[in-house]
Amino acid sequence: MSRTEHLGSTGVAIVGAGLVGLGWAIVFARAGLKVRVFDRSKELVATLPAKLEQSLSDLESFGLIEAPQEIGSRVSYCDTLEEAVDGIRYVQESVLERVDVKRALYEQLDGMLGQNTIVGSSSSGIPSSDFTEGLSISPRCLVAHPVNPPYLVPVVELVPASWTLPEVVDQVDDLMHAVGQHPVRVARELRGFVLNRLQGVLLREAWALFEEGYCSTADLDATISKGLGLRWSFIGPFETIDLNAPGGVRDYANRLGGLYLDIVRERGEPQPWSEELIARVDAERRDALPLDGLQDRTEWRDRRLMAVAAHKRDMEASE
Ligand SMILES: NC(=O)c1ccc[n+]([C@@H]2O[C@H](COP(=O)([O-])OP(=O)(O)OC[C@H]3O[C@@H](n4cnc5c(N)ncnc54)[C@H](O)[C@@H]3O)[C@@H](O)[C@H]2O)c1
Repeated sequence: MSRTEHLGSTGVAIVGAGLVGLGWAIVFARAGLKVRVFDRSKELVATLPAKLEQSLSDLESFGLIEAPQEIGSRVSYCDTLEEAVDGIRYVQESVLERVDVKRALYEQLDGMLGQNTIVGSSSSGIPSSDFTEGLSISPRCLVAHPVNPPYLVPVVELVPASWTLPEVVDQVDDLMHAVGQHPVRVARELRGFVLNRLQGVLLREAWALFEEGYCSTADLDATISKGLGLRWSFIGPFETIDLNAPGGVRDYANRLGGLYLDIVRERGEPQPWSEELIARVDAERRDALPLDGLQDRTEWRDRRLMAVAAHKRDMEASE
């Protein structure tokens, strides 16, 4: 039996079923696994079947899945944490991004999980060692950080704590591949991991350029959505610069390395986003999109992502 069959063979449990947890349920159910979902908010759980049905119906309309009812029927909702994790080999923890909330949950899980059960945390930036230290399950805990929504954006960062067993990372890597995600292995812990550190650098410069009056928020957004972002949906920063000089990355580094060094040096000391600055950005964003339009715009974003996912699937199949 392969490592993957073993890890997914008993199904998976999702603990915390907000934005990200429900997205994970779709990832695993779409791949044919049984999924048990637990969230401590009963009001939220009552809304999940309708949300799941809507997402699956959208995915079907973009040709990204078949048989949405069958996929939906693999997802079940549990009244207790014990019921959700009983006999399960893989738990995807997706509760709030707070050390105290995560730690309390891991202490509960410590008394409940079987000896071989692995827990992946969806944590966006908190290393798992901040909330898994000193438990009997510690060697089988790691971060498995998705991007929202995980069923449309496949990358997932695997970040072990110093005490995570190497074979645990291998097993989660295999599972993620098997369910169609794209694992990226981070060698050791750092705050924000890789994805949000990259995003953090971009955001820092965007806020600073706005504050200094170089550009509106709309033009900064367009620089990505109608500029850099178009390439980034299929190649990353290293491949981008490799293709942007006749002699490849070395040539690019010779031509433009000095410019990028000046840019980094000019920035100097980091500053927090001030209240006054946040208010100015907020005013521009609320002019462009009133708060009560956020939900519709999120659904629009997901439909655009579905079209990109369908395009990428077709391109990759033909290459
Ligand atoms: N939203 C994103 O874009 C995004 C992307 C990647 C990773 N994440 C990470 O995923 C995790 C979840 O984020 P989210 O955006 O889904 O948050 P969310 O607020 O939408 O959902 C969190 C859910 O956890 C539940 N919960 C809290 N404590 C619980 C417990 N002890 N047992 C069971 N359920 C519990 C809450 O009721 C809530 O429904 C966080 O660590 C977050 O940083 C979020």
